[in-house]
Amino acid sequence: MCGLIGYIGNNAVASTLLSGLKNLEYRGYDSAGIALNDNNMIDVFKAKGKLENLKNLLETQSAKLGSSHIGIGHIRWATHGKATTENAHPHLSNDGKLVLVHNGIIENYQELRRQLQAEGFVFHSETDTETAVHLIDREYKKSHSLEQAVISAVKLLRGAFAFCIMHQDEPDKIIAVRKNAPLIIGIGNNENYIASDIPAIIGKVSGIIHLADNELAIVRQDSVEVKKLSGEPVIKPIEKIEFSPDVISKLGYKHFMLKEINEQPNILRQCLAAHIPAVDQPVSLDECTISLDFTKIKNISIIACGTSLHAAAFAQNLWEEWLHLPVHIEAASEYIYKHNLTDENSLVIGISQSGETADTITAVKQAQEKGAQLLLLTNRTDSSITRYSENVIPLNAGIEVSVAATKSYTAQLAALYWFGLYWAEQISSLSQGQLQAIKQSLLELPALAEEVLSHSADIKALADKLKNYHNFVYMARGINLTCALEGALKLKEISYINANAYAAGELKHGPIALLDENMPVMAILGSGITLSKMISNCAEAKARNAPLIAVASEKEDLPLDLFDYLIKIPGASHGIFPILANLPLQLLAYYIADGLGREVDQPRNLAKSVTVE
Ligand code: AGP
Repeated sequence: MCGLIGYIGNNAVASTLLSGLKNLEYRGYDSAGIALNDNNMIDVFKAKGKLENLKNLLETQSAKLGSSHIGIGHIRWATHGKATTENAHPHLSNDGKLVLVHNGIIENYQELRRQLQAEGFVFHSETDTETAVHLIDREYKKSHSLEQAVISAVKLLRGAFAFCIMHQDEPDKIIAVRKNAPLIIGIGNNENYIASDIPAIIGKVSGIIHLADNELAIVRQDSVEVKKLSGEPVIKPIEKIEFSPDVISKLGYKHFMLKEINEQPNILRQCLAAHIPAVDQPVSLDECTISLDFTKIKNISIIACGTSLHAAAFAQNLWEEWLHLPVHIEAASEYIYKHNLTDENSLVIGISQSGETADTITAVKQAQEKGAQLLLLTNRTDSSITRYSENVIPLNAGIEVSVAATKSYTAQLAALYWFGLYWAEQISSLSQGQLQAIKQSLLELPALAEEVLSHSADIKALADKLKNYHNFVYMARGINLTCALEGALKLKEISYINANAYAAGELKHGPIALLDENMPVMAILGSGITLSKMISNCAEAKARNAPLIAVASEKEDLPLDLFDYLIKIPGASHGIFPILANLPLQLLAYYIADGLGREVDQPRNLAKSVTVE
């Protein structure tokens, strides 16, 4: 996904746009650019690579930054076309008078490109975006109205997009338009903003307008008009921003990721205070508006991507035990294209931190069309996915800026945990004694999480010893396999070290061939009937000279000399243990990546939410 910003007001436009883009860097960071409409002249400045490169370019162009009062900006995560200056946004019309920035994907860009080229339009980039600028320009030359040109052109586009558009001959306005990609209007004091997301404008505006799909906004310095693409005016509420400016501050931490890791105990406390009033009280839905017909549900599918898919696997383990119902999990990108059994007797649960992941949104939309009941878990209740159902469980983890999901994952696990208990109460599938025991272990979680995170110095020391290995194997059994999967992903995505997770019992069926002194094994031991098997699997790894690290309960009696490194965490029930065990693995990935000098909050090739399929 990419980040858009637009500004019209009396502040210095270039620095205002740069500041907004800085707070949108988590959405993509392979190139950036701004366009100013100044003295009836459109000036475009673009740079490949980090936003710093654009900042440095603008410092050499200060004379051209002049006295403009209106501009748009963009920070890119490349979809069509490499990360080059030519492909960076903004994109200009051939006469240099019309300029736009875009987030999303234009699916029919090739046929439109061919058609426009045949009409004489010259393309300078490989992007799908440039198709839009020439299409709008073609329409502008017919209507000489930017608003009309945008409305005519957008009707010809297929896909997901949000645009900010300016025209040299209409220097008093920016046109913003949205279809399946987020876009908000920030209302200021004699100034207005347009942005892809709240962090770009937090602390700068008194309220925001959430544009809906197929809506267009004509944004001037002292007014905002919203219309449907049909041209019909729309009255939109101006909403308060629910987040504090702290969300865009590291609050003294070296990286947002470390800040967000350390926010987890309090996020758990808030979640449990809202939903688990006491062990002998029913689970509370609190602010969640959920109306499901549980009696109709014959099968459950949880659809997600990446880290959120690991949360789905966690729920599968717990819910099949508690609800005695089959729980199917599927990567959204697979679910969309394969024959699936979703029908009116299905409950399909979509988990998405951002609520903007294209694969998950497409899967949820497909399930809705098949008559399934929907339930959505997201950290952003203002996101696109919430269009598909009123049944939403907000994660309430606060905006997660670091690309690597940490606090949102723990919030997903806690939400899936309490909702599973709520469901068990609705169908009486657990006894009162069982319910109370499970709630008790959940209520102890925040303090245990704090205890685990207090040993971060030990994890940092371990990371220093492990950071130069190039490959890792993570292994576990049962519900703890979700922790191995997530731990391996965390390490991969921020340190670029290859790490793969396996069911420990599967190692001897092939992957054990990988093991030698250069392949550390991270074992998540847990407790219960599989512990002895896990210890055997550890011995098998040790017998191949693999450096052996384990995360284990301090309550278990273990053969200590078997392990090269042992991360002990408080003992906990089998449903709570993987939530706790994930915390040192988050820290380990963080300290290894930081020790290697990686861009921890903005790892290469990634973006916070993948808004293209
Ligand atoms: C997790 O650290 C990654 N950033 C990524 O796997 C992410 O979980 C995935 O893209 C799904 O994102 P979502 O939860 O916003 O849908």
